[in-house]
Amino acid sequence: MYAEAKVRRNTVRDIAKLKGKRPIVSLTAYTAPMANWLDDHVDFLLVGDSLDMVLYGFESTTGLPLDIMIEHTKAVVRGSRKAMVILDMPFGTYEESPEIAFRNAARAVQESSCSAIKMEGGAEMAETIHFLTERKIAVMAHIGLKPQAVNVMGGFVTQGRTEDSWGPILDDAFAVQEAGAFAVVLEGIAEPLARKITEELDIPTIGIGASVHCDGQILVTEDMLGLFPSNAKFVKRYAEIGKTIDEAVRTYAEEVKNRKFPGPEHTYAMKSKS
Ligand code: KIV
Repeated sequence: MYAEAKVRRNTVRDIAKLKGKRPIVSLTAYTAPMANWLDDHVDFLLVGDSLDMVLYGFESTTGLPLDIMIEHTKAVVRGSRKAMVILDMPFGTYEESPEIAFRNAARAVQESSCSAIKMEGGAEMAETIHFLTERKIAVMAHIGLKPQAVNVMGGFVTQGRTEDSWGPILDDAFAVQEAGAFAVVLEGIAEPLARKITEELDIPTIGIGASVHCDGQILVTEDMLGLFPSNAKFVKRYAEIGKTIDEAVRTYAEEVKNRKFPGPEHTYAMKSKS
């Protein structure tokens, strides 16, 4: 028997090297089967804290503890072979101090086998990003619209709409790069600013609602597949799987009620006595 060819998983370096070569493709994944579907097509998979809303029905991304993120990340690692897997640090696990962030991130890496962690925050998180990267933890930063900060940011509002508001966002971008982040998510940032940040940084920018000019793109998979009712303007639906499920379940329910299912072909036949 031939052993299955070993596929090499993308590394942080592979992702960083794509800047200027070709756009980076990424999506979220929370489960092994979904990771398996996506693995051939993406450079990395993010076990995003959007999981709180998409899988667990919370109204924000501040609901779930690290233990749950670790279990979902383990599943995504098991379900994929090629894509790099990144765990999104949950609210409350990294903001307090660099030391606490390190302890939680080290646990996340050790237990889930993810290759990197992501954390929200710009200049205010630079010290923590530096502390972690100096201690061998690869960090993806996340600036602009920060969903975990929705309560203090006043809702999901596009950032940098006017040029006079660009300063702090540019400072955040340079601060996370300087601190050692290998890439940065730009969420909900107006196109000219996202473009400027992408042109000026050496590390890749991964856009979500931040224009085509970013070095890569990410979407919440359930949003783009039509499995989650997102009303974000930037989400393009590439499929309507929610509608397909509705149709299939409606047909099943009708067949059961009309005693059409299970038909003879779906029933175990009795063994005849001989
Ligand atoms: O939680 C998430 O899914 C994210 C994204 C960048 C999509 O942070």
